[in-house]
Amino acid sequence: MTHAERFTHLAERLAEWQPLWHCLPFQHPRLPWRSRWPQLAEALLALPESEVSRLQEDPFTDSPLAAWLPVGELARLVALPALAGQGEALPEAWGDGIGERKWRQIQAFLSQVEVAKDEALVEWCAGKGHLARALSRCHAIPVTALEWQPALCEAGEALAERQGARVSLHEQDVMAEGAERWLDARTRATALHACGDLHRRLLELAAEAGSAVTLAPCCYQRTADDAYRPLSRLGAELMTAHGLAFNRDDLALAVQETVTAPRGVRRHRQRAGAWRLGFDRLQRQVRGVDAYLPVPSLAYGQMPETFKAFCHWAARQKGIALPAGVDWPGLEAAGWDRQSRVTRLELARHLFRRPLEVWLALDRTAFLEEAGYSVSLGTFCDRKLTPRNLVLRALRDHAQRHSPTASR
Ligand SMILES: C[S@@+](CC[C@H](N)C(=O)[O-])C[C@H]1O[C@@H](n2cnc3c(N)ncnc32)[C@H](O)[C@@H]1O
Repeated sequence: MTHAERFTHLAERLAEWQPLWHCLPFQHPRLPWRSRWPQLAEALLALPESEVSRLQEDPFTDSPLAAWLPVGELARLVALPALAGQGEALPEAWGDGIGERKWRQIQAFLSQVEVAKDEALVEWCAGKGHLARALSRCHAIPVTALEWQPALCEAGEALAERQGARVSLHEQDVMAEGAERWLDARTRATALHACGDLHRRLLELAAEAGSAVTLAPCCYQRTADDAYRPLSRLGAELMTAHGLAFNRDDLALAVQETVTAPRGVRRHRQRAGAWRLGFDRLQRQVRGVDAYLPVPSLAYGQMPETFKAFCHWAARQKGIALPAGVDWPGLEAAGWDRQSRVTRLELARHLFRRPLEVWLALDRTAFLEEAGYSVSLGTFCDRKLTPRNLVLRALRDHAQRHSPTASR
């Protein structure tokens, strides 16, 4: 299947089921799609806990949703090749100062970066330049790393010096005018888990300059745009033809998979979800308005100790005066009950997580192909290491690479 065929088929399926994945069960005590697919909702609500966890981890295998939804077709459409990596395992000592999981991701990603003779390497949004250091040591070449936080640049320079890696970290806001000066037709730009607008900017500047790109995209919802702006012409045509649209919540769906979250974090999220749903019921009663009210999120460790304290905190955030005599235990139980229902109903939405993520990666692929690149799109590691395991490897076709304006 070509990239364009996959992109087109996924657009068709996403458009067909848009009412189902677009809707957030968390915000709707009465789910709008329930009247359209009542048996699907009943089947989901009847799922035992073990099935819920299994389907959250692996939505495409033995799914009871297949009676209603195109599970098999979606599984085929998201099955991208595992791209073969180059080179040998790196010495473990090179991972000093890097978290274990990050180091394993860097090793897997690094094997995707083919460095041609005379190519200059740039790491985009580098943090402390962990990837840049490993690249420099692996290929015995200097690497330029761009990062806008001075403290990270400083820490990265110190790490590079200590390890004898030829990495120069430059304080650079990649969104600012002039960022294009780091890229030309002999550059290979690399970015591991660069967020929405940051990697969009990279692709646009790289296509202008004719630079090669190795990119693992991430966090598509981190964008200044309220509505998704396709990068490619084909993406724009497909969205128009099929009436597809994505807001920030939709884009967040593409990166919601949390297979790597530790058990404690998952439990914290469950409790936070139940308490928010308990508060949701309370605020609807108190305000006399049957509508969802977004409450800011709280970092791990900042959550109040009790449900009652949480509701008082949330009410203060929203300027709501809570009445006396609230049945706190009853309300908390209602929150947990709704949490259990929401978790089940969300399984329908989550079936479209990976299709959406792959579609967004294909939009980036199509953009580069339209600019005269050859692009490989696949996975660079197992999803247990990181669910954000898609990689685009792109090289401007030779003739155009040395004359970047030829395709314009
Ligand atoms: C998600 S982290 C990825 C870091 C590194 N690539 C990694 O995989 O660990 C994104 C990095 O981009 C940096 N960043 C965010 N906005 C930026 C901007 N406008 N210009 C340059 N760097 C930016 C952040 O400070 C952060 O270090």
